[in-house]
Amino acid sequence: MCGIVGYIGGKNAGDVIIDGLKRLEYRGYDSAGIAVISEGAIESRRSVGKLAELGKILRSKPLKGLTGIGHTRWATHGKPSEENAHPHTDCSGKIVVVHNGIIENYLELKKILASEGHKFKSETDTEVIAHLIEKNFKGDLFKAVLETLKTVKGAYALGVISSDDPDTVIGARQDAPLIVGLGNGENFLASDIPALLPYTRKMIFLEEGDVVKLNKDGVKVFSKDGREIKRETKNITWDAVQAEKGGYKHFMLKEIYEQPQTIQDTILGRLFIGEQKIYLEDVKIDDKKLNGLNKVYIVACGTSYHAGLVGKFLFENLVKVTAEVDIASEFRYRSPVLDKKTLTVVISQSGETADTIAALRLAKQSGSHTLAICNVVGSTVSREADDVLYTHCGPEIGVASTKAFTGQLAALYLITLDWAAKKGSIKKDEFVRLINEFWETPSRIREVLKADPQVAALAKEFSQKRDFLFLGRHVNYPIALEGALKLKEISYIHAEGYPAGEMKHGPIALIDENMPLFVVATKSAVYEKVLGNIEEAKARGGTVIALATAGDKEITAKTDGQIYLPEVDEFFAPLLTVIPLQLFAYHVAEVLGCDVDQPRNLAKSVTVE
Ligand code: F6R
Repeated sequence: MCGIVGYIGGKNAGDVIIDGLKRLEYRGYDSAGIAVISEGAIESRRSVGKLAELGKILRSKPLKGLTGIGHTRWATHGKPSEENAHPHTDCSGKIVVVHNGIIENYLELKKILASEGHKFKSETDTEVIAHLIEKNFKGDLFKAVLETLKTVKGAYALGVISSDDPDTVIGARQDAPLIVGLGNGENFLASDIPALLPYTRKMIFLEEGDVVKLNKDGVKVFSKDGREIKRETKNITWDAVQAEKGGYKHFMLKEIYEQPQTIQDTILGRLFIGEQKIYLEDVKIDDKKLNGLNKVYIVACGTSYHAGLVGKFLFENLVKVTAEVDIASEFRYRSPVLDKKTLTVVISQSGETADTIAALRLAKQSGSHTLAICNVVGSTVSREADDVLYTHCGPEIGVASTKAFTGQLAALYLITLDWAAKKGSIKKDEFVRLINEFWETPSRIREVLKADPQVAALAKEFSQKRDFLFLGRHVNYPIALEGALKLKEISYIHAEGYPAGEMKHGPIALIDENMPLFVVATKSAVYEKVLGNIEEAKARGGTVIALATAGDKEITAKTDGQIYLPEVDEFFAPLLTVIPLQLFAYHVAEVLGCDVDQPRNLAKSVTVE
């Protein structure tokens, strides 16, 4: 939520910052702003709306300067308006601040500062930071920031500059992500990796409580009490091109089409068909400890939670261990029974979701072994978990998660198949059969993607409906939830996902000619039951679109529309069945003229509670 970029070097700071902000716009897009130090004074431009609006202002009133900070906002305190857009200044206009997070004690601080004569211009929590730095400034910006951090409570990633200290950019991190990019004669600050990919691959991932001082020729990291500390520099292998649309109209469509590759990248070097073996390089838990575990908690939010629901089936069916799945914002506030014999699997694309981080910390404190499935190298979740298995999906820019979801599923299959083999909970020949099936997934997804034109035609036909039901059973029940979430978030159509067998217990009352149903009805042990559920819906006037297995003629006769998928072992079906639902949501949003990559009210990583 909210994206920050900072720059100091030989280039025009405004250009570098707006370019970086464009790559962070998925983090928030209700207003934006940039400030630079220009001929010894702060100059800033801010605007409501997307970055394109700020771009227009910058074209007519360009900024010139070699040091600057910028921000793209997802509003928390104060409505989207120019006054509330960052950067925020102190009374003198010499200090500017950008901030991602929430300052919890800002009202109390604001009251004190106002009584001391500070004049506030916005409704934001952030502005208090600018005034506190002003109050603490005695000629050294870094010291003033350190002093300020002693008084603020809450979460922050900060970027600060001052015309009184023009050769410095200060950054600080507490419970919100911030990275430093290292260049030649230039250095950068950013909320996330993609912002900096065109400029550098050398990055430092700041840790909680770090404060960083950037000059054009160097970077120093300190603890909040001013002690210099060493932080490792990581080389990022992501390609800048991966963070571009590459000829697709939207990132979401590109990311849907990337899935055969991203799954292959997640499996490659881990699944060895010839040796009939899985090798998970980063998962260090030893076999004795692993086999002593008696319960798995899977914790995540949103789409990642849906991946976790599939994970439950895999742990129970393959590893024969009890698995519970929790939404992170619930898990952290109840009293889960965690101990040394439990494994907590946290799933997060960004690795920065505030509730998931809190859940991870709770699990660690309770002695549970923690394993993260994460896409972003160096993110908080990946650094704090005992073990991490990275999904190799590359940057996911579309706000609606697609390739990260199937990457998470692939990681869950790897973990559960590996554990099952080690534990002996499945027979060797079954293990070999399953890994061979799994290996075929990328080529099967390529086949599924060929159905895109049919999905697009269905989307056109049904785009005017205002309500949708998505039904699935067993391992495809989470896919029904995911299909409904995708439709809701990018096309603003009301949609609900249900376990098909639960319909009779209430929701069936909703069915009429205005309530179409998407039913996952691929061949599986529950296929006949799903057919029964389809009959029940049809008998009540429902229009049914089925996701079915190629060659299934029975379903053609029983339903109003069909998307056929290649035959696959039911365990691996979710990796296939989710694809047409992602495409359906995409095409409906397109028909309705919705902003696919940046749906209203949302932001890519939810770094506030
Ligand atoms: C939906 C979506 C969100 C995220 C959720 C968790 O398309 O993207 O529901 O899945 O905010 O985010 P991560 O996985 O980054 O923790």
